[in-house]
Amino acid sequence: MKIKKVDLDIVVGVTSKMPTTNMPEFAFAGKSNVGKSSLINALVNRKALARTSGKPGKTQTINFYNVNDSLYIVDLPGYGYANANNEVKAKWGKMVEKYLRNSTNLKAVCLLVDIRHAPNSNDIQMYDWIVSNGFKPVIIATKLDKLKKNQVPKCIKAIKETLNLGKEDIFIPFSSETKAGRDELWQLIEEML
Ligand code: GTP
Ligand code: MG
Repeated sequence: MKIKKVDLDIVVGVTSKMPTTNMPEFAFAGKSNVGKSSLINALVNRKALARTSGKPGKTQTINFYNVNDSLYIVDLPGYGYANANNEVKAKWGKMVEKYLRNSTNLKAVCLLVDIRHAPNSNDIQMYDWIVSNGFKPVIIATKLDKLKKNQVPKCIKAIKETLNLGKEDIFIPFSSETKAGRDELWQLIEEML
């Protein structure tokens, strides 16, 4: 996709009403620090449009990025952020769940996992939610650049086994640093539009 313009159109916080949009939405979910916001910047060719941080818990609102007035890329707060207190965690969780459940324009929920680590129970839960809600699973293994080439197959195998991925499930190794996987992901989004 040629990026002609991208704007942060809608920001949803815990007290906000969920918006009704009129364009297809593609959401990016995964644990805190896995690289959701960085992936979005890589997708839209912007260095710091979506705010990123070395510390988990950076994205605390649901952010809708309008791309070319034709679709929304939706950045979600991560789950499993250990330092947030339970009340805050519960509020974020409810907000994300409410969004995922109620959006009528949601085309896909892409699940990001760190390529270096086997998915945990939260990731498995998210994967199961995606499947049981009728979405086509799209798994993105982030931070590909952090592995040596010869480590990649073993790590991919571990992720696929832990999530029990089916043959037809889409799996994209990705790096926001090298942009590996970017074209494949755009192609997929365009097919789903
Ligand atoms: P929350 O907003 O807290 O849920 O985190 P997030 O999933 O949005 O992660 P974010 O994009 O903020 O990235 C977390 C850290 O990982 C940052 O220091 C990024 O620079 C780094 N990072 C993200 N993607 C990559 C990648 O592909 N390669 C490398 N080397 N680092 C990455
Ligand atoms: Mg983020």
